[in-house]
Amino acid sequence: MSTYNWIDHTYDVVVVGAGGSGLRAALGAAQAGLRTACITKVFPTRSHTVAAQGGIAASLGNMGEDNWRWHMYDTVKGSDWLGDQDAIEYLTRNAPQAVYELEHWGMPFSRTEEGKIYQRAFGGMTRDFGQGPVQRTCAAADRTGHAMLHTLYGQCVREETEFFIEYFAMDLIMDEEGACRGVTAWKLDDGTLHRFRAQKVILATGGYGRAFFSCTSAHTCTGDGNAMVLRAGLPLQDMEFVQFHPTGIYGSGCLITEGSRGEGGYLTNSEGERFMERYAPSAKDLASRDVVSRAMTVEIREGRGVGPEKDHIHLHLEHLGAEVLAERLPGISETAKIFAGVDVTKEPIPVLPTVHYNMGGIPTNYHGEVLTKKNGDPDSVVPGLMAVGEAACVSVHGANRLGSNSLIDLVVFGRAAGMRCGETTIAGATQPELPKGATDSHLARLDKFRNASGDQPVAKLRLEMQRAMQSNCAVFRTGDVLKEGVDAIEEVYKKLPGIDVQDRTMVWNTDLVEALEFDNLLAQAAVTVNGAATREESRGAHAREDFADRDDVNWMKHTLAWNDGTGKVTLDYRPVHDYTMSNEISYIEPKARVY
Ligand code: FUM
Repeated sequence: MSTYNWIDHTYDVVVVGAGGSGLRAALGAAQAGLRTACITKVFPTRSHTVAAQGGIAASLGNMGEDNWRWHMYDTVKGSDWLGDQDAIEYLTRNAPQAVYELEHWGMPFSRTEEGKIYQRAFGGMTRDFGQGPVQRTCAAADRTGHAMLHTLYGQCVREETEFFIEYFAMDLIMDEEGACRGVTAWKLDDGTLHRFRAQKVILATGGYGRAFFSCTSAHTCTGDGNAMVLRAGLPLQDMEFVQFHPTGIYGSGCLITEGSRGEGGYLTNSEGERFMERYAPSAKDLASRDVVSRAMTVEIREGRGVGPEKDHIHLHLEHLGAEVLAERLPGISETAKIFAGVDVTKEPIPVLPTVHYNMGGIPTNYHGEVLTKKNGDPDSVVPGLMAVGEAACVSVHGANRLGSNSLIDLVVFGRAAGMRCGETTIAGATQPELPKGATDSHLARLDKFRNASGDQPVAKLRLEMQRAMQSNCAVFRTGDVLKEGVDAIEEVYKKLPGIDVQDRTMVWNTDLVEALEFDNLLAQAAVTVNGAATREESRGAHAREDFADRDDVNWMKHTLAWNDGTGKVTLDYRPVHDYTMSNEISYIEPKARVY
């Protein structure tokens, strides 16, 4: 093995990732008086939260009556009853407070005439337990994530969070008892290696959209924290539930916000028909994302797609008028011009369902503490390890997330994790030495890729994985197609020893970073497609044509998936929490999910 020297750091709390949830957790920990570091592979305000457009859900009631219980009902229904209702109650009750905090920290929300936070309609958000649309999604034009990141980064700097920027997190430092004691990272601009010892490590590393060929996710969305958890021998949860956003731009995959339909936009097929009226007579274009994505896919399959290949759908905004578009949707107006050559005031945007969000991730409770199934206890906590944001599976989104419930998840559970650190961590407490040999496997993995000189370029293997996931783990699934996907991912694993990493230097070596990221993606692709092949029902975003119905008797349970590092996946299950957090609302009983 090569000789490496570690540079050592000790903090009370180390957050990995500087998107909305990471920054909010870091802020909370710092406010609790804990010495807090935040490690991030990109500059904080370039984290993928910057791309969140349409808004953040909270029942403020600025545009008509609203109630957190209605928000809770919508989220449970949106999750297709896979969400844990105690966590969903925590999310929706705490949402208004989390938004007001952002407002008080200076987040530049759009405003109503009276100066209140502007709220728009979003899919699946209703009043009075499903009675009709409600305007619940608080917006900063169509750049809400961008506004949020800048607000939170400013507050973190004020609270003296220490940032380690352009550090690539490698692996968790675990001890013999299974507790997390820190994390290792590679500083990309000088090639040095760092060991961060901490009482709490909080993973806020986002989703893994880049396991697929076409996604709205940034190139950085490689789920590094999820893969670190798998390498630590811990499970990921519900990974088969992958959200396709109905309106990615055809060809490029760039996001066109659901807020555009919230402002009155609508979809048409090649016959000019507003087909969503057939699939969701009540909510129409504002049905839940899984419902709209499936409807679009059926239209295309049945020959009613638009364009020369009849392989996409039109999104109309031109009737909204130039003034509304400029005020409410300036970002996507520009994106449509650049990526589709479309002037949205005059022509429809060509769109296609595109991978957007991972409902699955690192299992946690609503304090952000990571769960495993130690000694058969499905709610046992991994000491020292927490997770928040898209990396985590709390689970509030269950089988399908409602649009704008992502940004609120980031700040509600980021805040909860920061508070939990305050309750369970003693500022400046002496930490024991790191266990001997605990980082050997981290260096061995680095060496493996630094010495890789086979005949399989990283980009080639990554493309094989992405194409397999796109074709075999798509909007509609069957057992045969998923089995092909399982085999295809196994084939990529077989080729992994032949990977070729061209430049082995450690300074700004993008080929080496991409090899490590690809390895992370592959581990998640394996658990995703195996979980999907095994789940024989349709629920939320997991639509099996060979098992068309939801099966609450056999499948109302969370999947737990382990990967042994060679692509061999083991599955187990834990029950969905069929209880709420307080006695202010009862458990919402499962029923048919229609919009
Ligand atoms: O459509 C959007 O603006 C995306 C929002 C979300 O995924 O929550």
